[in-house]
Amino acid sequence: MDRNLVFDFTNLTEETVGAHGITDGLLSSLSDRAVGIHADILTRRNKGRLAFMELPYANIEGILSYAKKVRDRFENFVNAGIGGSALGAQALVLALCHPFHNLVGSKAVSGMRMFFADNIDPDFLDGMFEVCEPPKTLYNIITKSGSTAETMGTFLIVKSILEKTVGSSWRDHVVFTTDPEKGDLRSIAESERITSFDVPEGVGGRFSVLTPVGLLPAACAGIDIQELLAGAAVMDKRLAVTPVMDNPAYLFSLYQYLLDREKGKRVTVMMPYSSRLYGLADWFRQIWAESLGKRKDLGGADVYVGSTPVKALGVTDQHSQVQLYVEGPFDKVFTILRVERFEHELLMEPAYAERASLAYLGGRTMADLMEAELKGTVYALTANGRPNMTITFPEIAPYTVGQFMYALEVATVFSGGLYRINPLDQPGVEWGKTAAFALMGRPGYENRAEDIRRGLASHERYVK
Ligand code: PA5
Repeated sequence: MDRNLVFDFTNLTEETVGAHGITDGLLSSLSDRAVGIHADILTRRNKGRLAFMELPYANIEGILSYAKKVRDRFENFVNAGIGGSALGAQALVLALCHPFHNLVGSKAVSGMRMFFADNIDPDFLDGMFEVCEPPKTLYNIITKSGSTAETMGTFLIVKSILEKTVGSSWRDHVVFTTDPEKGDLRSIAESERITSFDVPEGVGGRFSVLTPVGLLPAACAGIDIQELLAGAAVMDKRLAVTPVMDNPAYLFSLYQYLLDREKGKRVTVMMPYSSRLYGLADWFRQIWAESLGKRKDLGGADVYVGSTPVKALGVTDQHSQVQLYVEGPFDKVFTILRVERFEHELLMEPAYAERASLAYLGGRTMADLMEAELKGTVYALTANGRPNMTITFPEIAPYTVGQFMYALEVATVFSGGLYRINPLDQPGVEWGKTAAFALMGRPGYENRAEDIRRGLASHERYVK
């Protein structure tokens, strides 16, 4: 049984979607640049500047043994982190655990119940704290910088809840994942003697799913993280293919880039035909947006680049978005995620033989219907000149999800080369982070607070 992802680019080409597609000539016009960007990636990797690329080979013994210990002790796992410190783990749990994970099975079989505090909506958080009884709960505080206001604020609440309920043993109910040296969380880990894991040096938040940031929650949820890394490693080998124009991750980037720059496809829609893979579209949305949405190029010139990633869900959004996708503006490219073998096929029992308009469904499965709906959308998009591609997962498993995440991480970095920007920084995010510090009164940010107050003053005539 072939367990490798299949990338089908056919419907991105002029041959199938006409003038909105890419010709072989246009694609090969980028081959010299592709070779150069590939060489640059190899050089940076060899110098240890693309640390995320080595993660499939990391030693995970510490994570496995800690996860085993806490799974025996706690019922609930609350993950407090945001952005890159949440989306990867959430995607893994959604894809690789039972769809109603928190409601089924004993924790010994299915892993701890998983809760994600990735927003600070006080009603949402309060509800979460209410359903997770503190004595039965482990709180994982994840922030690479160790200073993000949302996560550190959540930590303060967690700490006080625990002190009131479990008293001096509160430290045993908390684990940190943060920078190995810097930041408040690291020094608190040391002073309070709290168990902690490192976000390895040089790995940014959105590239950190294969570090303890994603692996610890996944292991606590009962996911086979060794298989996840094995999938990432096999993709790493596969991406070493030559010539570089045969590399599926690079081809993904090249087509996306050409469709954006040459064909005006400013929006890139990822549409899994699987509820379980929806979190991967969410994860992709972040890595693509935060890495490639940039004002400055590498030379410091203003370029304002980046296509806008959008997530949609098949089949649900066939009845919400597909009308727009098929007949609206020609500004989108689509990546369909297809599952070849669902874990369950779910038979529709034959009934109402006298009604031909219903009986045709009898004896078929929901998996058949899903496939037909997916093909219908691909056909409609293609026939209407909408470039689309399909990534097929032979099955939903840690091995295939690991392949997908690794490939898309590499594709994102390669795209940074095409746009000539730095995909590893996020100056736009820092605006919001420091604004929050300023407005919440953090010392050192007084001038910034004043600027913001002035800049945000409403004009009476526009307020009704
Ligand atoms: O990818 C990134 O760098 C960001 O999305 C961060 O993960 C996010 O801003 C949270 O940062 P931190 O982990 O420092 O709290």
